[in-house]
Amino acid sequence: MNTSDLPGHPFIAYQDGQLCVEGVRLADLAREHSTPLFVYSQASMLAALAAYQKGFAGRKAQICYAMKANSSLSILQLFAQAGCGFDIVSGGELERVLAAGGSPSKIIFSGVGKTRTEMRHALEVGIQCFNVESEEELDVLSAVAASMGKVAPVSIRVNPNVDPKTHPYISTGLKGNKFGVAHERTVPVYQHAASLPGLKVVGIDCHIGSQITTIAPYLDAMDRVLDLVAAIEAQGIPIEHIDFGGGLGIHYEDTQPPKADDLWQQLLSKLDTRGYGQRHLMIEPGRSLVGNAGVCITEVLYLKPSEQKNFCIVDAAMNDLPRPAMYQAFHGIVPVQAQATGTEGAALTYEVVGPVCESGDWLGHDRDLNVKSGDLLAVLSAGAYCMSMASNYNTRGRSAEVMVDGSQAKLIRERETAADQMLREKLI
Ligand code: LLP
Repeated sequence: MNTSDLPGHPFIAYQDGQLCVEGVRLADLAREHSTPLFVYSQASMLAALAAYQKGFAGRKAQICYAMKANSSLSILQLFAQAGCGFDIVSGGELERVLAAGGSPSKIIFSGVGKTRTEMRHALEVGIQCFNVESEEELDVLSAVAASMGKVAPVSIRVNPNVDPKTHPYISTGLKGNKFGVAHERTVPVYQHAASLPGLKVVGIDCHIGSQITTIAPYLDAMDRVLDLVAAIEAQGIPIEHIDFGGGLGIHYEDTQPPKADDLWQQLLSKLDTRGYGQRHLMIEPGRSLVGNAGVCITEVLYLKPSEQKNFCIVDAAMNDLPRPAMYQAFHGIVPVQAQATGTEGAALTYEVVGPVCESGDWLGHDRDLNVKSGDLLAVLSAGAYCMSMASNYNTRGRSAEVMVDGSQAKLIRERETAADQMLREKLI
């Protein structure tokens, strides 16, 4: 297996001056499928999953892939075959899991705004658990389940009021966020749930945010959740499973997130100390299973030097890679063909931007690159929250996607055409 020269990206490395995902050259893939093109390493995804599985070894535990990170069917199929469950947030995601061969009995349904139609469908197929986020949602779920003669398994998402120290848009467990039930309301809400027809309380869950790069907020949240488990059980309501929400952050720039097995070692030892080590445990990692497994290859279209800034205009844009525009997020951008020695001096500092008609359409600020039009660049850490957040803005078709397994590359999604985009539209 490769030793990567790109920090945080195992399985993505230069071989003989050519950037490769596992054993496949990105330049060859770009030639075959054109650009922009997402390329994923299957081994990287499975290794990331294995780190969670290893951390849980010997426990009653379940990993539910938070598929919002990347919901492409092949990726869901890969994780389903590796034994994962799924954390879904819409009826559409439910359809995707079923289409990919995932088992309904390992699906948990999160989200603050589930519709009655979504609830009905999830009850029909028999999902594992609804992660309920408000008192009103409990009442509606109870009514829907009772009207179908079904019992909905429920866990209540607690907002533990813990600061995850991440971007405000992806903090979810603080007072003032729209998510979960306030810590101090939790016991009465559980009592209410236990009194309603058509519901069975099975668990408790929380989620404090995403791209968390330290373990401390998880430990704080866990303490607060365990206090609640004790208080809820003291009311005679048993809690079968404890779900800790999303996974760890990943490498984007100089962040060095803790490893999944370290996270679990510390969480499990706290659980053991507090006497909850034998409970059924769940976690819903998204980003950390897929983020560093993927790159987006893009071609340099034009270089446009100017007095203030040099622009490097590439064929990928904010519709393909929305994270920089949305969260001012950093993604590494590297050449697909390593620079020949002796040419370093020709590098200039560029704003790397896409063709979309907005000044917010940037992929990287102040990047030192030695490029000319026609060169290929790879945008790193593009496996999570890129393709799944891609849009058709400017009537740009969504990219194709390729999955690499060793020296094999498979097209897992064809490039979207303008005709695909217009398929459901009608002229007046
Ligand atoms: N469970 C729940 C209930 C969630 O809301 C999320 C993410 C996860 C699990 C997965 O968290 P992860 O393991 O990926 O950190 N689009 C943003 C990220 C939004 C995350 C929302 N919730 C970004 O690109 O940074």
